This record gives sequence, structure tokens and C-alpha cells, in this order.
Amino acid sequence: PSPFTRYAVLSNTFSNQKTELADIDWDNLGFAFLPTDYMYVMKCSRDGNFSKGELQRFGNIELSPSAGILNYGQGLFEGLKAYRKEDGSILLFRPEENAQRMRMGAERMCMPSPSIEQFVEAVKATVLANKRWIPPPGKGSLYIRPLLMGSGAVLGLAPAPEYTFLIYVSPVGNYFKEGVAPIHLIVEHELHRATPGGTGGVKTIGNYAAVLKAQSAAKAKGYSDVLYLDCVHKRYLEEVSSCNIFVVKVCCPHLGWYDDCLMCVRAMGYCSCWRHRRCLPVGLPSGGQALSISHDKIISTPAIKGTILPGITRKSIIDVARSQGFQVEERLVTVDELLDADEVFCTGTAVVVSPVGSITYRGKRVAYGDGGGFGVVSQELYSVLTQLQMGLIEDKMSWTLGL
Ligand code: COI
Repeated sequence: PSPFTRYAVLSNTFSNQKTELADIDWDNLGFAFLPTDYMYVMKCSRDGNFSKGELQRFGNIELSPSAGILNYGQGLFEGLKAYRKEDGSILLFRPEENAQRMRMGAERMCMPSPSIEQFVEAVKATVLANKRWIPPPGKGSLYIRPLLMGSGAVLGLAPAPEYTFLIYVSPVGNYFKEGVAPIHLIVEHELHRATPGGTGGVKTIGNYAAVLKAQSAAKAKGYSDVLYLDCVHKRYLEEVSSCNIFVVKVCCPHLGWYDDCLMCVRAMGYCSCWRHRRCLPVGLPSGGQALSISHDKIISTPAIKGTILPGITRKSIIDVARSQGFQVEERLVTVDELLDADEVFCTGTAVVVSPVGSITYRGKRVAYGDGGGFGVVSQELYSVLTQLQMGLIEDKMSWTLGL
């Protein structure tokens, strides 16, 4: 029997539900689970085919104690968001990207997965059924959590014989308790999140269990979250427990990043960038006028090489940054570069774009900006991305899906 038979199948009753807002405190949403009205369930039997899914009343599910997900962690999840617009319509942000990522993850975890169309249709149905839980414009979003799990019973180590695809939703506000204020990260150099050849690059549930120890220790010391290094060299940035990382460097174009500023003075006159402003304006060119020097900002983020989650917000921010004229590099980024950066920020579906106020590495703390909020670059990218997601600016990339 289906683990879900306890719940009545609701044939279209959801479409008649009242559409006004749920009665909750919309001004104080954090990132905590709030049960909503419906969840979507679709089962995949031994033949590898998914049955027609259905909306059910939200509630607990039944699983065999021997289910593959409980015993061997055969499970994936996704995260995406729906936004309510002023005109009452709803926007989903890039749902087919999540569908595609779930398919890649399922292949790595030996699971069948819904087609892109099945995934997107299921997300749409779940969001519409829970419409009254989508926050009013500007108050947050509806976080959508698709799960794919080995729900069939196994005892010997093997892929489960049956699978369940389930979607639930919850209204959310800011992920970090800091809100949109800068977060404080500690670099972990002993525990690792992922290994080459492992599953770090897919959204399997085990990746998140693996970071809880370091994350709990960091939080107990007052840090917001943990930044992981690669496990081979212990030198290159990977990602934060819950999001990807970006560093911004102001580059003095005529000097390169690390040259001594005195060269700049001799060659070009007084350089007023924050990095060089301690220089005396000696050796100015004739006329004594300081030259105005443009300072390009280069944005770098660790390349996707199998140990880092290919974040959809990460990918979107790279495209937004390039469209805004920034140079973006996906490459190995060292912890030294991080400590020497001018601005650091994180991206993720849950965290959106979150400025980093400080990094602590082996007891050394480096602070960025004035400690007050976004840096110039992260502010610009956050603003463009969120306006796109909320339908406030033209979506030239066709990233949003209206419901
Ligand atoms: C997301 O950002 O959607 C995630 O899945 C990260 C999770 C730790 C909240």
C-alpha cells in the first residue's frame, strides 16, 4: 500500500480554496518551517515510471523503516521560490533549472527522476494550491522544497526499489538572522564538505548533514556560517554550508593587484583607491594634477568542478554581473585572495545575495566594508536580481515563469 493512503486525495478542492492571505505575521518571517495547506506527491514504481502525481493535504508521511532514504541516504532536494506581484500574479524563478539539476543529481544517486515538465507542472500545482501562503510583495517569498527519495524498502546496500517525489512549501523571509546585514563566516580547515569524485556537486541530503558539526560549532561561537576549503590542498575556497561564495577585488589596472603602490606613484601620479591611498602624492606628472585612474572590479568565484554545488542563484548572479559590465572569473580562488578581497558576498536560493562582513581564518579576522551593509558590487547585483525575481524590471533573460 502507498505510504500516503492515510491522506485523502483532494480532487480539485484546492482550486476552490479562499485565496486571501493566510493569517500569520507577514512582517516577521524568518527562514523557519511553517506548515501550509497542500503537498504534491508522485510515486515511481519498480518499472521506473512516475505515476500521475497528486496534491494531498499537507501532513506527515509514512515510510518503511527500511526505506532507502532512511538507511542509505538515497535522497535529493531542491529549493526555489515563488513571489507575489502587486497585481496578484505569481512569479517562479527558473524552475526548469531546478528540474534539470534534480535530474543530474538523480543520475549520480542512482534514482529515477521526474521529467522537466513533470517537475515544473508539479511546482506550479503546489504553489497555486498554497497561494494564500505566498507573502505579500516585499515581505518575502514562498520557498518551494522538492524532494526525491528512495522510499522503497532495502536491507542490503542497493538502490531502493521505489521512489517518491514530493513537494512542500513554506513562506520565508531572510535566511540569516542578520537579515540583510553582513554575515560573519569562519573558514573551516579541518572538516570538509566534499571530496573529488564524491557527491559535493549534487544536492544530496547527506551533503547537508555533513556540515552540521562545523556549522553548530561556528554558531556557538557567534559566527553566521562556515566556509569550506578544498580537502586536497586545504587552500582553495569551496562553498559555505548553505550557499556559494564570491570575492570582489578592486584592480588597479595599470599595476595589477599586488604591485607596490610606489610604482603607481612614480609612474602615474597619486593613486586614490582605498588600497593605495596611504601613498604620498609625490612624483606627480608635470602640472601637479593627480590622474584619475579607473579601478576595475573583478568578481571571482570557485569554478564548478564536482565538489561545489552549481547554484542557480550563483549562475544567475554571474550572468547579471556580466550584463552589468563586470568581469567575472570562475576559477580556483585561494583563501589568501579571500583575505585580501575588497568585498565578499554569498549567493543561494535561500540566502539570495548576502554580504559578508568578516572572515575568520586560523584565528585571524578580516573585516570588509564599513560593517554596515552591502558593498557596492553586492548591492548592485542584489538589487538587479531581486527586482527581476519580483517582476519589478523587465525580464530580458526570460528567467521568470508567471502563474
Ligand atoms: C537553498 O538555498 O535553497 C538551499 O537549498 C540551501 C539550504 C541549506 C536552505
